[in-house]
Amino acid sequence: MSDFNTIEQDLLNQIAKASDDTLLEAIRVGALGKSGSITALLKTLGAMEAEERKSAGAAINKLKDTVGSALTERRTILKNEALTARLLTEMLDVSLPVPEGPFEAGRLHPVSQTIEEITAIFADMGFSVAEGPDVETDDFNFTKLNFPVGHPAREMHDTFFFNAKENGERMLLRTHTSPVQVRTMLGQKPPIRVICPGRTYRCDSDQTHTPMFHQVEGLVIDKTANLGQLKWVITEFCKAFFEIPSVKMRFRPSFFPFTEPSMEVDIQCRRSNGEIRFGEGEDWLEILGCGMVHSNVLKNCGINPDEYQGYAWGMGIDRLAMLKYGISDLRPFFDADLRWLKHYGFKPLDIPNLCEGLSQ
Ligand code: DAH
Repeated sequence: MSDFNTIEQDLLNQIAKASDDTLLEAIRVGALGKSGSITALLKTLGAMEAEERKSAGAAINKLKDTVGSALTERRTILKNEALTARLLTEMLDVSLPVPEGPFEAGRLHPVSQTIEEITAIFADMGFSVAEGPDVETDDFNFTKLNFPVGHPAREMHDTFFFNAKENGERMLLRTHTSPVQVRTMLGQKPPIRVICPGRTYRCDSDQTHTPMFHQVEGLVIDKTANLGQLKWVITEFCKAFFEIPSVKMRFRPSFFPFTEPSMEVDIQCRRSNGEIRFGEGEDWLEILGCGMVHSNVLKNCGINPDEYQGYAWGMGIDRLAMLKYGISDLRPFFDADLRWLKHYGFKPLDIPNLCEGLSQ
């Protein structure tokens, strides 16, 4: 009996000290395997007297069970220890910021973002987007828009002209997006409701002017289009674009050859400490030109002014981006400086929409 105790104690000690599965398995084979020590003891039972076999059999089987469960227990302990060690080395701080992958690292230029915001707002009001070429004819850029030949307004546009063709015609880089109005009216029947964002060019350069800049034009032609609607559209646009609940606007008489009457629109703002806020304060800031489409323009574009009337407006996209996002100099817009773009740019997958917020 005491022999069994010694064997048991010895095996239990070995099991307790075993530091991995391989060692445990070696102990199991050494005790319970085909030629293991306990198996050998069991084999001695056959040669014993019945009485002796009974007591020795019980003792050996108890020894076998004890060693068996000690092995299982130790295996579980080792498994848990291994898991704990692994969890410690593979620990992850879920509160750390997620590193940006290549798709998230890119940034959308503030001008692209602003065009998307403007498009989202006007799409919500039922406008579609129309486009035209950057290289325009003098006819579409000026004449059809009621700029008489030799009129000083043509000079005010600081136009980039191409060399004259053989027939004397001179192409130009469009000085505004208004020729897209002409193209749209010539190309489709009223009712018309479009916005025309795009690049425009004038020979001008300083902190707030670059030779290439962006404008967006709006045009509505319908039988009942009127100034009240124009005012509502512009006001709703400003509220949505600047993300403010209400805004005061001021419509000042002005002159554009293609509209009659013509107006410039100022938006209420507060200027303080070099910062500008919209929808509050006592200051005014000019943001766009607009008016009722001149009957000569309607006629030039094949629309009967006795049946249809229209309103239009035009505004500078870069300027809107500067105002909304607090960018004081226009020139870096076109410098392709990645540091600037990282700072002022937008995540490309945060697509502006009116439900989730335009600029998040
Ligand atoms: N084309 C004008 C410009 O570049 C802006 C403008 C003013 C467009 C009034 C319009 C308008 O459609 O109605 O200065």
